[in-house]
Amino acid sequence: MDLYEYQARELFRKHGVPVLDFELAATPDQARGAAERLLGAGASLLVVKAQVKTGGRGKAGGVKLARTPDEAREKAEAVLGLDIKGHVVERLMIASGADISAEYYFSILLDRSNRRHLAMCSREGGMDIETLAKERPEALARVPLDPAVGIDRAVALAILDQAGFDRGRAEAIAPVLESLWRVYRDEDATLVEVNPLVASPNGSIWAVDGKVTLDDNARFRHPAHADLVDAAAQDPREAAAKEAGLNYVRLEGQVGVIGNGAGLVMSTLDVVAMAGEEFGGLKPANFLDIGGGASAEVMARGLEIILGDDQVRSVFVNVFGGITACDEVARGVLGALEELGGAASKPLVVRLDGNKVAEGRRILAAAGHPLVHLEETMDGAARRAAELAAAPE
Ligand SMILES: Nc1ncnc2c1ncn2[C@@H]1O[C@H](COP(=O)(O)OP(=O)(O)OP(=O)(O)O)[C@@H](O)[C@H]1O
Ligand SMILES: [Mg+2]
Repeated sequence: MDLYEYQARELFRKHGVPVLDFELAATPDQARGAAERLLGAGASLLVVKAQVKTGGRGKAGGVKLARTPDEAREKAEAVLGLDIKGHVVERLMIASGADISAEYYFSILLDRSNRRHLAMCSREGGMDIETLAKERPEALARVPLDPAVGIDRAVALAILDQAGFDRGRAEAIAPVLESLWRVYRDEDATLVEVNPLVASPNGSIWAVDGKVTLDDNARFRHPAHADLVDAAAQDPREAAAKEAGLNYVRLEGQVGVIGNGAGLVMSTLDVVAMAGEEFGGLKPANFLDIGGGASAEVMARGLEIILGDDQVRSVFVNVFGGITACDEVARGVLGALEELGGAASKPLVVRLDGNKVAEGRRILAAAGHPLVHLEETMDGAARRAAELAAAPE
């Protein structure tokens, strides 16, 4: 789960990363009020920042400076409602402005390909880090982290030295890197990025931007993280699937896919995409793994989510019977169709294999449900599902 900048800042504050004061605002008047309070508390400069979960806000006009409450109100009016790469700005962060003498870059991330945590650091922050990494890779220090140690003072100083900081500046920044490691470790993050981390003329260090991605697989260890979920920004189908304990990801296609086991579902997406080529580039509409114990109930919840998706024109049910045998799956499909009644209106291509496949197919064939098409092979079923999706209604 990606966090909003203001949420990242709250976690930063909790772990001792230096951040300046801020408030949230959803209207120009709220922005004005927030500005009044921040200026009253001693700020001399304010920043009005779009809170959207995408990068490049500054370039898109989503980060503006203000010096008075009226100016903050005016800037808020300009930023609210902006469309930044498809994300409409509904909330703003009004933050105290930092007096900036230098902008740096720092991040910790899960480096999956090397199975390591990785720290990246540069004296040239503020800009687009991908560009820096490509054009001047030597300016970006990349330091693999030992998970048992993380970032202690010695590691922090080594990272800063590699990035080319002199000793004095490194001494000032090192404690901030240690705190950022605590955010990463204690919150189970897979990304903690600060761009820019700024130095003020008096030498103080501030995180003025923050990106944090939390590891959803560690959610059970952090009941408090449930509060960070942004229900409004979530796909309603993905939310319903999560509620039902299903592994569902919506994609942009026309052929709904249900299978058991992540590996089987992944390869099902591949064969559907391949078969779809023949029918003008049809694509899978989703990933949905109903897992091992595919009961009628689970099948019904899965079908309900997929059939409720307007973009879906046919559904491919691809099940390999194991612990849950094919006869149960077949009854599950029929039970689900019965339960859904009129809500089930799109053709279902079913391919069963594995434990008790003969019984499973017999049950489906005997039922003769008008929406159910039985296929023997995975490729054949994918082709059929694509063909049905392509057929005019
Ligand atoms: N609190 C602040 N005080 C002073 N200047 C700021 C502050 N916040 C941001 N800025 C200035 O605005 C620039 C852009 O801000 P920020 O990094 O938050 O957004 P961004 O990088 O454009 O957006 P994104 O992180 O979405 O790519 C910073 O590099 C900095 O120069
Ligand atoms: Mg930034």
